[in-house]
Amino acid sequence: MKPKVLLTRSLPSSVLARLEAACDVDLFRGGGPVPRAEFLARVAGKEALLSMVTDTVDRAVIDAGTELRVIANVAVGYNNIDVAAARERGITVTNTPDVLTDATADFTMALMLAVTRRLGEGERMVRRGDWKGWAFDQLLGMQLRGKQLGIVGFGRIGRAVAARAAAFGMTVVHSLRSGEGLALDRLLATSDVVSLHVPLSPDTRHLIGQPELARMKRSAYLINTTRGLVVDEAALAWALKNRIISGAALDVYEREPEIHPDLLPLENVVLAPHLGSATTETRTAMADLAARNVVAVLSGEPPLTPVA
Ligand code: GLV
Repeated sequence: MKPKVLLTRSLPSSVLARLEAACDVDLFRGGGPVPRAEFLARVAGKEALLSMVTDTVDRAVIDAGTELRVIANVAVGYNNIDVAAARERGITVTNTPDVLTDATADFTMALMLAVTRRLGEGERMVRRGDWKGWAFDQLLGMQLRGKQLGIVGFGRIGRAVAARAAAFGMTVVHSLRSGEGLALDRLLATSDVVSLHVPLSPDTRHLIGQPELARMKRSAYLINTTRGLVVDEAALAWALKNRIISGAALDVYEREPEIHPDLLPLENVVLAPHLGSATTETRTAMADLAARNVVAVLSGEPPLTPVA
């Protein structure tokens, strides 16, 4: 008898084949997140769970999964999992670091360029039929060369963004929760672009709120590709509306897929639908790494990428 695995979304066929060779796979085919009651029912009797960022794997889910040995999140962030509850039961939790670093850093640059060069505004103007032709002073943005990028959280993705920003001629500073680098206040007060790369934890929830936004330059931009809850969205909408900062580009939100209604009418914010790691190559690599973690743990081997 093969061990039973619950898979909450379909994965590339090569990855499914790897899992099916070693496990008996129960795949939820609903498309969206598994409804709560169904999640609790289907995790029962499973030795492994392959979860997505949209699955809340809290204590109740872990309690319902009495046979669980491994929870493999298909994401680098794992704030959706109650790791302490899993640890109490001796369940291994894994994530997918490294494989998504380049894709996410690339997308951070895409957002930075989009907001500083007013790409969203321009696209909306064209599609509305309002473009009357080239004009000397049309939608002027901010050049990146010579500007300071402040990176908050200097892990794998933060460092990959720093390397890209250097190629654009930016000066890079960073701030770490450990106190290394520039103090956050100083980084906020002096940077032309601030990009957030800290994981979500009780410590980083609403790390950027009204006082922090007020500390930024009026000409500065904020980029968020980590987790929505790191930013107080209502405060950000206030800051953008009142031009406390110049603009923002967001890939993540406090209550995905809901977006704070005050952000939607604003021209100076780029709103992306959580696409940081969304390339075919990267999503395949993430799924494959999660599947290899499951197979390793179920075969009694050490996981490849356990969370700390
Ligand atoms: C996606 O949001 C991830 O954490 O990988």
